[in-house]
Amino acid sequence: MNTGLMLFNKTLLGGCAGFSRISNSVRRKAIVAVDEKKKNTFFITTPIYYVNADPHIGHLYSSVIADCIARWHLLCDKGTEIKFSTGTDEHGSKIQQASNANALSPIHYCDKIAESYRNLAECFNINYTDFTRTTDANHIKTLKKFWNVLQKKNYIYSADYEGWYCVSDETFLTSSQLKEVEDNNGKKIYISQESGHPVEWTKETNYLFKLSEFQEELIRWLQKNEVAVRPRKFQKILLDLLSREKLPDLSVSRPSSRVSWGVTVPSDKSQTIYVWLDALVNYLTAAEYKTNNGKFEENWPPDIQVIGKDILKFHGIYWPAFLMAADLELPRTLLCHSHWTVGLEKMSKSKGNIVDPIKRSEVFTADGLRYYLLRVGVAHSDGNYNDSKAIRVLNAELADTLGNLLNRCTATVLNPNQEFPKLNREVLEEVKKLDVAKTLIENVEKLPFICEAHYNEFKIYKVVDAVIATLHSANLFFETMKPWELKKLPEEKETLDVVLHLTMETLRVSGILLLPVIPHLSSKLLSKLNIPEISHNLESVKTFSWNNSDFNSIKLLPEKVMLFRRILLENKPKMKISQ
Ligand code: ME8
Ligand code: MG
Repeated sequence: MNTGLMLFNKTLLGGCAGFSRISNSVRRKAIVAVDEKKKNTFFITTPIYYVNADPHIGHLYSSVIADCIARWHLLCDKGTEIKFSTGTDEHGSKIQQASNANALSPIHYCDKIAESYRNLAECFNINYTDFTRTTDANHIKTLKKFWNVLQKKNYIYSADYEGWYCVSDETFLTSSQLKEVEDNNGKKIYISQESGHPVEWTKETNYLFKLSEFQEELIRWLQKNEVAVRPRKFQKILLDLLSREKLPDLSVSRPSSRVSWGVTVPSDKSQTIYVWLDALVNYLTAAEYKTNNGKFEENWPPDIQVIGKDILKFHGIYWPAFLMAADLELPRTLLCHSHWTVGLEKMSKSKGNIVDPIKRSEVFTADGLRYYLLRVGVAHSDGNYNDSKAIRVLNAELADTLGNLLNRCTATVLNPNQEFPKLNREVLEEVKKLDVAKTLIENVEKLPFICEAHYNEFKIYKVVDAVIATLHSANLFFETMKPWELKKLPEEKETLDVVLHLTMETLRVSGILLLPVIPHLSSKLLSKLNIPEISHNLESVKTFSWNNSDFNSIKLLPEKVMLFRRILLENKPKMKISQ
C-alpha cells in the first residue's frame, strides 16, 4: 500500500468542498476500506487515441509499454487481478472534420477507426481487459454523472469566454504559448508553440471549471509524492509550469452549434462537454465509477497511467484537479514517455512520414516490432525511428544472440537425446574453474534481480540490455567450450552435458524475463525447452537448476523451432514509409 500517497490524499481531500463536514475518523476508515479492496486489482491505462487518423508506432508504443508492465506484474504473481484499459477518443470538431473528409457519418467513421485500434492491439498481443470508446452509452452515462458531481460541488460555473483556440489540440492557449508565423499565402497567423497547429480567436459562452482553486494542491501533490510522475523530469516540468503562472479556470464546454459531435451538458442542451473532460473520464468509465456494484472501490485509483509527453499537461494538471474536485483518489503514477520521430521530425500525415506498425509487423513480426520499440525507446528523450536500425538490432539480438543459441544447444548433432540434461556436480565444479563459466553463472544468478529493479523503475530498455549482455556471455561460453569437439569424445559426455545445461538454463531465465517484452517469442522458446507455464514467473527464475540437486533431465519438445528468422535487407522496401 502506498501509505504516503494515501495520507497525503486525506489532507488533500480535506480541503475540498463537501468533505469538510465528515469527521477525520470516518474519512480515515472509508479510505482504509477502499484501499484494502483495491489491493486485489492492478489497474493500468493507456491514453484513448483520437480516431482522426489510423494508428502509428507512437500509439503502439504507449500500448506496448502498458502491456509489458501488466505482463511484468503478472510474472511477479502478486495474486492481484489485472485491469488494463485502452480505447478511442471519438468526440470533438477534429473528428467531425475527419469524418466529413472521409465522406462518412461521424459514427460510421468512428466505428471504422476504432476497429483499426482494436486490430492493432490484437495484432501486437496487447492484452487489454477494457476498451472504452467515448461514444459508448456507458461512458456517456458516466461522463454525465461526473459532470453532475462537479456541478453539485460548485466547481462549474457559466461565463463568457474568449481566447485563442487551437482546434487541432482542442484547447485554449494563452498568448505566451503562441508563435507568429506566415501561412502559405504570406499572411501572418498564430500557431501553438508546442504543437505547431494554427489557433483562432474564439468568443463564446462556456461552462468553466474552477481549475484556479487547485493550484496549491497540485503543487503539494507533486512536491510530496515521489512517484506521482515518472521519469522525474516530467514531474519537474509540471512543477515549473505550476509555479510559473497562475492557473486560469478551464473552459469545459463548447456551444453545440460549433461542436455538435459531443456529449451534451446534462442541464443545458446548447452546450457540449469539452472533449478533454470527456476523454479523461474514460478512466472512470473503465473503473466502473458510480455503477454501485462495488467494482469501482476495487479498481480505483489507477496504479499506472501511461501517457505521451504531448498530453502531460492534461493528465498532470487538469486530470488530478478534476479528481480532487470530485473527492477521488489520484492515480498512483503517471508514466510519461517521450516521442518517436522519423528523420528527426515529428510523425505527421502531412509530412507523409507516418510509420505503419501493421506493415512493419509483416516483415519484423509483431514481437520483433515490440522488441525494437521497447529495446531502443527510452522514456526520458525522443527516439528516432529507423527501419535499417530495426533490422540490424533484430538480426543481431533476436536472430543471432538469442535464436542461434537455442538452435545450437537443441540441434540433434550436439544433443541427440533431445534433452535439457541433468548435470554431474563434480564436472560442474571443474567447468566452473574456467572464467567464462564462472562469469556466465554469476551473470545469470544476478539477472533476475537486476531485471526486477529495472522493470520496477519502468526502464524496460535496461531489462533487455541486461538480458542480452547475459546471452552474450552464454554465447562466449559456448564458443569457448567447443561442444562440437566434446561431442567427438565419449569420455567428455558429462562435460558436454554441463555445457548444454548451463546454456539452456540461461535461455530459460532469459526467456521468462523477456516474456513481458516479447510474449510470443519467449513462449516459443520456453515451450521448446518444455518449461511448464506454471513456472513462468519471477519466483522460478530466482532459483537456478544448477543449484538444484533434484534436477532431472527434461525432454525437449520434438518440433523444430525457428525463433526469429533473419530479416533480409531486400525486404526493407516493402515497408516504404507512407500510408
Ligand atoms: O492525445 N511517439 O490522442 P492521440 C510516442 N485522445 N508516442 C506517441 C506518438 C509519438 N510520435 N504519437 C502519439 C490524444 N503517441 C487524446 C488522448 S487520453 C484521456 C486522450 C501516443 O491519438 C502517446 O501516448 O493524439 C500520446 O500521448 C498519444 O499517443 C496521443 O494520441
Ligand atoms: Mg495527438
